[in-house]
Amino acid sequence: MENPTRTAEHLTRISRRQSDLTVKVASLLANHGPIVWEIGCGHGHFLTAYAVAHPNEICIGVDISLDRIERGVRKRNRAKLNNLHFLHADALDFLNALPAGITFSDIYILFPDPWPKRRHQKNRILQPEFLTAAAKRAGQGTRLHFRTDYEPYFRDTEATIDRHPDWKIVTESWPFEEITVFQSRAVSHFSLTAKREPNRA
Ligand SMILES: C[S@@+](CC[C@H](N)C(=O)[O-])C[C@H]1O[C@@H](n2cnc3c(N)ncnc32)[C@H](O)[C@@H]1O
Repeated sequence: MENPTRTAEHLTRISRRQSDLTVKVASLLANHGPIVWEIGCGHGHFLTAYAVAHPNEICIGVDISLDRIERGVRKRNRAKLNNLHFLHADALDFLNALPAGITFSDIYILFPDPWPKRRHQKNRILQPEFLTAAAKRAGQGTRLHFRTDYEPYFRDTEATIDRHPDWKIVTESWPFEEITVFQSRAVSHFSLTAKREPNRA
């Protein structure tokens, strides 16, 4: 049976965690122009290289693995990159914690967990709800870049984006190549770029 005290404590913990995240995100990103966001950045291999190559862009990587984020932070500090941040957070929690007015120029999702079993597919990051939430933080020209080595996830993502009113798949070359850790283990991969559909609200 459910223990009401433990449930209340659990809800308090979640709400405290979300408000801590809101404060942290505001301190990192407030007053910045469009941001480059990597979801599931691992230990930051791709985004560190990206930030070095694009010193005028502000980049943030989020991951639910604390160990990977700590390794990313060490990389960032060693490279003394002021335009790069790593944050231990769930992607949707991060979206909900963003200060008003922050938008993304580019969103990268590289080799996300594939969740191959049908009953686990609800755990995939690329879902219609995610696309709707991300679109609210997208301006004219925002791009979403998706890459995976798991073809069924790629095909499902194509279909999900095709059906979604806020995003449109475009034919463009991949904007920045840096082999990620999971990419180095993959035999092949599939990539797509989607653009915020400008005529929709
Ligand atoms: C397969 S790894 C890929 C890591 C890196 N992008 C690469 O290509 O080497 C997927 C990463 O996504 C992270 N992740 C999974 N679900 C997430 C979520 N909801 N929010 C943020 N990160 C997530 C995992 O912790 C893991 O580091």
